[in-house]
Amino acid sequence: MIKSIIDKSTGFEKRFENIDTVVFENSTDASKAVAQQIAALIKSKQEKNESCVLGLATGSSPKGLYAELVRLHKEEGLSFKNVITFNLDEYYPMEPDSVNSYVRFMKELLMDQVDILPENYHIPDGLLTKEEIADYCADYETKIEALGGIDLQVLGIGANGHIGFNESGSLQNSKTRLVALDHITRVAASKDFFGLNNTPRTAITLGVKKIMEAKQVILLAWGEGKADVVKKSVEGEVTNRIPASFLQEHNNVVFVLDKEASSKLTRINRPWLVEKIVWTDKLTRKAVLGLALDLKKPILM
Ligand code: F6R
Repeated sequence: MIKSIIDKSTGFEKRFENIDTVVFENSTDASKAVAQQIAALIKSKQEKNESCVLGLATGSSPKGLYAELVRLHKEEGLSFKNVITFNLDEYYPMEPDSVNSYVRFMKELLMDQVDILPENYHIPDGLLTKEEIADYCADYETKIEALGGIDLQVLGIGANGHIGFNESGSLQNSKTRLVALDHITRVAASKDFFGLNNTPRTAITLGVKKIMEAKQVILLAWGEGKADVVKKSVEGEVTNRIPASFLQEHNNVVFVLDKEASSKLTRINRPWLVEKIVWTDKLTRKAVLGLALDLKKPILM
């Protein structure tokens, strides 16, 4: 199991957190720990002569994880021969060899560097005609089902709470489909596409339903920019405005966070609400300021 730098032994955080969270000093340590967990799963499946079905994400969050998996392959002999992968999404339309395609991303960062069989990795096809998409998406799900479902799904999280490209408003039983990307998602992607005008408006994404059916889910979030949405997903209501909050209803999910992404969780930001603490000047000032903000009253009142 992934080990946190912060001990959650009190259990009081459960009053606030509806999803297990582990916090690491930094994303490098976190990625290494997740890679170890995935490697252990791959090996345990190998011992039983079974395939290991992984759901994979792209974006900046899993880059360190893929680098560590490649290192485990090259330096420690971890084999991917029994691994079958399904990526969450691809922009549409998208040429597979374009610099921004997720096919290229996955090939460069993982697939071409390990011994996975080329027929064993699946990434939604950005070259389909509109007419082909529905059947293709249904087939993508059938392939996953035929393998007994996803053993472990790796997720990132959008600043708007999207998982895959299931944007705000997606339903918990949504299927794999063509979606319109949120403005927030397009703005985040626009730096890679040299401006918003060149950024795709649509994408093919695995639906929320298949993500929720995965046997295990590990969501990675790094940096202060994710702190708000992490808190809302973990501590807030389950709502389709924040699709990551659906994960509160998954029975085997962990959010793996760096310090910055965890910084707004109640147990980190207002630990006195969660457990007995040793009051320092800094914490006292923080508590007084927090109270003033909560009560919308000046500090002296
Ligand atoms: C990518 C994906 C997205 C990203 C999310 C976070 O395959 O499904 O949901 O995980 O947008 O992106 P980064 O990691 O770039 O912050």
